[in-house]
Amino acid sequence: MSAQNSIGITINQLQKMRDSNEKIACLTAYDAAFAKLLDHAGMDVILVGDSLGMVVQGNPSTVSVTMDDMIYHTECVSGSVNHSLVISDMPFMSYSNIDSALYNATRLMQEGGAQMVKLEATQRQTEIVEELSAYGIPICAHLGLRPQYIHKLGGYHAQGTDSDSANELLLTSTTLEAAGADILLVECIPAKLAAEITKTVNIPVIGIGAGKDCNGQILVLQDILGITPGKTPPFVKNYMQSCSIQDAVTNYIKEVKSSDFPA
Ligand code: KIV
Repeated sequence: MSAQNSIGITINQLQKMRDSNEKIACLTAYDAAFAKLLDHAGMDVILVGDSLGMVVQGNPSTVSVTMDDMIYHTECVSGSVNHSLVISDMPFMSYSNIDSALYNATRLMQEGGAQMVKLEATQRQTEIVEELSAYGIPICAHLGLRPQYIHKLGGYHAQGTDSDSANELLLTSTTLEAAGADILLVECIPAKLAAEITKTVNIPVIGIGAGKDCNGQILVLQDILGITPGKTPPFVKNYMQSCSIQDAVTNYIKEVKSSDFPA
């Protein structure tokens, strides 16, 4: 049986938030308890990220995460949420051609209950984004540092740091917007480049380690709670210094909305 998410926040509302300069608050979640907590706190977007391979499964990267893992965790989350929009990650190699992308995105929506799928993208994924979009599948295109490419990149390094790669990322952003991407997620790129992308495209841009000027922010839940096994990236903020988990999540939403995070 597939999970059913009631319609709460929609892509139209995310677009309105972007157009009216209201910041979009996003966090990851992978289970029902945290999904309910974030939903009740008023989180705009919950991402069932393939980061679950690291923070839930304890693996060194996201590469080992399977479609079955993603469907299972997406179902746990989407069945527990009434307000937040649920995005689910397409795992490594699940969108290597148009047929597999269509098949697997359909599974995330029908079996998992996702309202949008996220895929790590360069311009090479343009046709895949076009096809998914043509069939009514909302898409978040994840640019910049793409963790599924870790073995090709040789480490989790900032991207778009020289003018050629910055121009390439700007072009990728506009190309994927034209292909039908509904939102962009930019990871670990210079704040100036993230600001330029945000100014250039007309869809919401969510940042992680990409400065203050994106339309919204996302972090991994375990990172803001200070319970990530192992090292956390330098841009992370621990919201659990002297408060409850509920307070930590509420403070994170407040600081994204008021632009106090990132500092
Ligand atoms: O998988 C994930 O959780 C992500 C976020 C880090 C943006 O892609």
